[in-house]
Amino acid sequence: MEQYAIKGGNPLVGEVEIGGAKNAALPILAASVMTNDVVHIDNLPDVRDINVLLAAMESIGVIIHRDGRHSVTINASNIRNLVVDDENIRKIRASYYLIGALLGKYKDAEVTLPGGCDIGCRGIDQHIKGFRALGAEVVLEHGMIRTTAENLAGNHIYMDLVSVGATINVMMAASMAEGQTIIENAAKEPHVVDVANFLNSMGANIKGAGTDVIRIKGVKSLHGTDYTIIPDQIEAGTFMFAAAITHGDVTVKNVIPKHLESISAKLLEIGCEVEEDDDCVRVVASKPLNHTHVKTLPYPGFPTDMQPQITVALGLAAGTSIVTESIFENRFKYVDELTRMGANIKVESSTAIIDGAKRYTGADITAPDLRAGAALVLAALSAEGFSTVDDIKYIQRGYEDFHIKLQKLGATIELVENEKDVRKFKMKVG
Ligand code: EPZ
Repeated sequence: MEQYAIKGGNPLVGEVEIGGAKNAALPILAASVMTNDVVHIDNLPDVRDINVLLAAMESIGVIIHRDGRHSVTINASNIRNLVVDDENIRKIRASYYLIGALLGKYKDAEVTLPGGCDIGCRGIDQHIKGFRALGAEVVLEHGMIRTTAENLAGNHIYMDLVSVGATINVMMAASMAEGQTIIENAAKEPHVVDVANFLNSMGANIKGAGTDVIRIKGVKSLHGTDYTIIPDQIEAGTFMFAAAITHGDVTVKNVIPKHLESISAKLLEIGCEVEEDDDCVRVVASKPLNHTHVKTLPYPGFPTDMQPQITVALGLAAGTSIVTESIFENRFKYVDELTRMGANIKVESSTAIIDGAKRYTGADITAPDLRAGAALVLAALSAEGFSTVDDIKYIQRGYEDFHIKLQKLGATIELVENEKDVRKFKMKVG
């Protein structure tokens, strides 16, 4: 089974190119089935979740042509069936975006319900509430969610909580409903805006994305488009924190600095220097890190997807820090692994109380989920001695060429397949 073998201790230094945003690309791919014309998408990250979704789309008759590693042409004029179910799609949460897209276009969709997840119970009630408000009948049975409607009609929908997935899903279906839909208490994440821009480029009429009220005037049909996905806020944030954690100097390139403001603000607070340019941000960590408090919040607050990375940094900061997770209830599972590397962290329900340690020490650790897995790799890169990180399939769900990008910044990290490879790695790097 693939693992990362890591020797810690090198400050990461240099430039890293950030790819397209996974969490924008997933709904954009799903939304591309809403037209019978050809859609061309660029800056697609080559990561596992994207490839699973593309395969599921092919399984219902969507024709997908890979134009290169990061671009695809999609033709959904010949969809054969509106039931999406296979072993792989059950593993990705974003499968539910096909419901909103197919319901909008065909007024009929049946998609496997997203399975349990490693970061906590993730409801889908707001998606269902939104579809029902548009006039759809929604049935959950045999592990599937089935939605049908004679007609979809616009409505005024107040989301009970801020949900990225429900906002996007309802926005997609409402784009092809009759009349106007207003979504209140909408999510404001950059990827919500990117999906709205994508749909508008196909002829939809969506206004207000990026604020908490989105207004959608339904249209009868959507047309083809050429679209480039925004840079990945969380991949960028992960490399920015890599600089802090390893006391390095990293420039993340091809980013939208505005999307990184909450991350930059925390890095400044803990004593890093942050320089912004038009499409890049440089983080220099030349001084010891300071403690701070942080609570994860919907955008523009500090992202839950950056919570493990900041916790790893604060585990090395002088003094006591407090990290509060307010989005997912089970997102501190990695703390046990970090403790094995020397961290002093106590978790009490949704709060982690961190007493900064002088250093981490290498250990054999396991990635419990995508972002925590990446954060543990960063801990291992700063640690004294060797580490291995297992279950990297989680990391590969959302980071393209993670170890290669880290190597280019001077990290001693290799992808290995077995014990023999680990021994060889240790002999090679000493
Ligand atoms: C998206 O998940 C992202 N995934 C997550 O990224 C990210 O952590 C999350 O948004 C928050 O920013 C994708 O975009 C594919 P939510 P999503 O709906 O849409 C509750 C990563 O690492 N909720 O905003 O599923 C829910 O349980 C991943 O890339 C309901 O109760 O998140 C959670 O507590 C992990 N009922 C909160 O709302 C609902 O109907 C926010 O969830 C919907 C959500």
